[in-house]
Amino acid sequence: MSQSRFYDRHILVTGGGGEIGKAVARRLLAEGARVSLLDIDTDKLEHAAAELAGDDARPRTFGCDITDDAQVAETVDRVERQAGPLHGLFNNAGYQGAFAPVQAYPGEDFARVLQINVTGAFHVLHHVSRRMVEAGRTGSIVNTASMAGLSGPPNMPAYGTSKAAIIGLTQTAAKDLAPHGIRVNAVSPGFIGPGFMWDRQVEQQAGVASRYYGDDPDTVAAQMIASVPMGRYGRLEEIAGAVAFLLSEDASYMTGTNLPLSGGGA
Ligand SMILES: NC(=O)c1ccc[n+]([C@@H]2O[C@H](COP(=O)([O-])OP(=O)(O)OC[C@H]3O[C@@H](n4cnc5c(N)ncnc54)[C@H](O)[C@@H]3O)[C@@H](O)[C@H]2O)c1
Repeated sequence: MSQSRFYDRHILVTGGGGEIGKAVARRLLAEGARVSLLDIDTDKLEHAAAELAGDDARPRTFGCDITDDAQVAETVDRVERQAGPLHGLFNNAGYQGAFAPVQAYPGEDFARVLQINVTGAFHVLHHVSRRMVEAGRTGSIVNTASMAGLSGPPNMPAYGTSKAAIIGLTQTAAKDLAPHGIRVNAVSPGFIGPGFMWDRQVEQQAGVASRYYGDDPDTVAAQMIASVPMGRYGRLEEIAGAVAFLLSEDASYMTGTNLPLSGGGA
């Protein structure tokens, strides 16, 4: 691993209090980046920053609800004033939503999932890229989509829809920002574990009567793993490696892509 791939680069990580955000921040810090963490959950943020603090680099933390456009504008402004101009963004905050078949899915939750995963991600992408373009600064943005956006998982109509939208947003933003030297790509993690998202997903799928999975968590876990050609779930470090690649100049000719991180699973 090159120590200096992100030397003097400042990267904002949203969902920075969560599992994937923290893993990516750890990797970027190890490669010399300055990292700012943004999350709605300020307790998680402070824990993440304390965990990630090295000898000379404690990530700065910014509490912010990405669904609130004005709050995002003000926060991105504060991030740059306090920690310097941004060169990159890992646009990653997200919410899995309820688990229920489409005919029973709560409309309120559908709206909430789209508000966070799509509109919220747009707000961050919009304000960060606007500032980069205004300043004539080039850089790289990575959005977190999901295999759910490609495969239509059962019982997750809102989440699957939201992540399909992120892939669309990535493609359009890549075209709009290419003339400004800003690359935009997405990653689509599949089954990632161990951790909260894996446990929740397995438990929730087991809790929903469905022909696709069994009704106890151990069976669901085994069924999910059996559907992965590589026969295991992905590790957080494996997501971090792919995101760091896309954020780095090693991916200098890639924009508008969506990298499946799924062990070969569809
Ligand atoms: N873990 C997986 O299996 C998996 C698979 C595919 C995609 N993803 C995606 O990866 C991303 C990160 O997920 P994770 O696994 O780290 O989950 P996580 O729950 O640990 O992290 C998500 C973070 O987003 C934050 N967040 C939620 N709503 C917010 C809002 N309105 N404003 C600001 N922050 C908000 C949460 O507080 C949380 O810290 C999400 O977009 C998720 O959909 C995860």
